[in-house]
Amino acid sequence: MNTAEIKALNDRYIINTYGERKLAFVKGSGTRLWDADGKEYLDFFAGIAVVSLGHCHPAVTEAICRQAGTLVHVSNLYYIEPQVRLAQLLSAHSFAGRWFFANCGATANESAIKLARRYWAEQGTPKPHIIAAEHSFHGRTLATITATGQKKYQAGFEPMMPGFSHVPYDDVAALEEAITPETGAIILEPIQGEGGVRVPRADYLPAVRRLCDDRGLLLIFDEVQTGMGRTGKLFCHEYAGIAPDIITVAKALGNGVPIGAMGCTEKAASGFAPGMHATTFGGNPLCTAAALATLEVMLADGFLEGVQETGAYFMNALAELAAKHPVIKEVRGKGLMIGVEMRDAVAPVLARMLEAGIVCGPAGPNVLRFVPPLIVTRRDVDRVVSTLNAVLGEV
Ligand SMILES: Cc1ncc(COP(=O)(O)O)c(C=O)c1O
Repeated sequence: MNTAEIKALNDRYIINTYGERKLAFVKGSGTRLWDADGKEYLDFFAGIAVVSLGHCHPAVTEAICRQAGTLVHVSNLYYIEPQVRLAQLLSAHSFAGRWFFANCGATANESAIKLARRYWAEQGTPKPHIIAAEHSFHGRTLATITATGQKKYQAGFEPMMPGFSHVPYDDVAALEEAITPETGAIILEPIQGEGGVRVPRADYLPAVRRLCDDRGLLLIFDEVQTGMGRTGKLFCHEYAGIAPDIITVAKALGNGVPIGAMGCTEKAASGFAPGMHATTFGGNPLCTAAALATLEVMLADGFLEGVQETGAYFMNALAELAAKHPVIKEVRGKGLMIGVEMRDAVAPVLARMLEAGIVCGPAGPNVLRFVPPLIVTRRDVDRVVSTLNAVLGEV
């Protein structure tokens, strides 16, 4: 089918939650994508920070094919070998000794929210109140849009769940003021993604950790976007030298196969007992085999260092561009999670980039977001930066 044919069927049969789109991709390899009309693109968006090893990475494709020919699904009524091996490897490389597998970022966060509430109920001192940040994004289920600190995602779905409040991001005093005797947890993204690639000051997360320790609160880090190598460490909070009590990941965990996970300390995990939380698909053999293969590649020598190096190279090049183009207000990010804040709307820039064969995306109305596959090269970066230079000269 060509693009026009796919669009016609989409418009006839798909519920219109995504609106008009420009094209349909039908093939991918590494950092390259092809649309239904045969045009090639350089992908600097990776399916919104998902396909971190690049499209159809051979190790992941091999794992998917092998598992698809062995066993796809059995449910969590039975033990699942790739699931326990994935949990073991994640535990070996994080603070989290216990894992629950979900289907996406929102359901990983649902698990975290439920665990935080159950934990305090189990202690005999229910503390259902959870503090989140303004401009945060935690997903599209009812609990996670409640946690999300952006009204536009809540409008028309009221009433929101009780027990959440929001404070400015990167402001420890605001968090402290919002704590009540009912507060059981704080949920934060170590770098806010959808909210505009907002990087907090270096002392913010350590101060939040101290606050949670002093006041006896659970700290939840939503690393759905920042996790799995995106910022140049396996988990972004490692830069802060502290760890949360609960973490959520998804997006790049399966390099495109739908999977999310919630990890936590042994102590936090004691909040759940058999029957308290479950999912049919979460952690099934196919998804966890793909995620295991993905994680093994990410943990190979030099992979994360490469993300840091290419990310720093990209940030420098964008900073040079910002010096030339006053329309750029700020370049910010970490590793290969980069936001370029513009003084104007970003939509025309995105459209021109796409015409020039570069896929990137927004993070809010004014921020151009680059979350490429983590395997991009300096040459790829050079091409994107020179294309952006030309586009900014035109818009
Ligand atoms: C930080 C964060 N949390 C949660 C989510 C929701 O993930 P999903 O779309 O997989 O439900 C996202 C998605 O963009 C995210 O960036």
